[in-house]
Amino acid sequence: MHKKPNIFITRKIPDHIVDPYKDDFNFSMWQEEKLPVPRDVLLKEVAEADGLLTMVSDPIDEEVICAGNRLKVIANFAVGYDNIDVTFAKERDIVVTNTPDVLTESTADLGFSLLMAAARRIVESAEYVKEDKWQSWAPYMFAGSDIYRKKIGIVGMGRIGQAIARRAKGFNMSIAYHNRSRHEDAERELDATYVSFEELIKASDFIVSVVPYTKETEKIFNEQTFKQMKKEAIFINISRGQVVDEEALYYALKNGDIRAAGLDVFETEPIRADHPLLTLNNAVCTPHIGSASESTRTNMLHLCMRNLKGVLLEKGAETPV
Ligand code: DGY
Repeated sequence: MHKKPNIFITRKIPDHIVDPYKDDFNFSMWQEEKLPVPRDVLLKEVAEADGLLTMVSDPIDEEVICAGNRLKVIANFAVGYDNIDVTFAKERDIVVTNTPDVLTESTADLGFSLLMAAARRIVESAEYVKEDKWQSWAPYMFAGSDIYRKKIGIVGMGRIGQAIARRAKGFNMSIAYHNRSRHEDAERELDATYVSFEELIKASDFIVSVVPYTKETEKIFNEQTFKQMKKEAIFINISRGQVVDEEALYYALKNGDIRAAGLDVFETEPIRADHPLLTLNNAVCTPHIGSASESTRTNMLHLCMRNLKGVLLEKGAETPV
């Protein structure tokens, strides 16, 4: 009988995900749920692994990949894979997989929640009530921005961008987008207009970043772009922190160059409590929870497992990158 392939999972995940695969694989799993696997443990584990199930918080670089003498597949528990050196993995014939589709709607929900929270000042005003500061109803107390009929500009019109646009359509927003290539289906279905990045930045009331992080998108939201935005613009980022110059964003929010921001991702994660952005009332910040609904996270893990099995024991991956 063949020896079962070894899988290393870099974080504690529920037994019900892993148990159905115990006849196929030998599992080893980092036993912390909240903290990443230390580098030395990862390097040791990868040396024995045929497959890895990795988190966005694990940098899978040349050193890790080289340590994986027998490694054949890296199943990333995310749709984004900028934590993995995919080019290098491919050179070594290692398949990298991600989790598209299953997280699209949940991530768009979170993006739209941040948009609404920032526009209607939900977090600040909820804190105000909790802190017992509410004295009386007042005409302009926490008066925010309307969402209905406003202009949304979506940067990155992939699956999640389009799911944001469908939500925006329900709010009667006028929808513009910028993307490397045009999506004529989305233009027809969603009445979305393709515009240049500059046009989008200048004209939108809400600017939503859903663009993957690559060399080309690094800090595309910077001092210059924030200055081009409307004073009442609200900036939402659910893609990657590295597409934003955070210092420029901080000053734009502080100086009133733009009105507010909703941020789920940061240049360095976790963002620490002394980060300047966290001193601002007009920044709503969440801890990279875009796809974090219970059922979506479970579906993402099932997809990772199917990808591991697909590459190691069957015809191939379901969602290779
Ligand atoms: C993704 O899927 O890329 C998210 O950012 C991590 O859940």
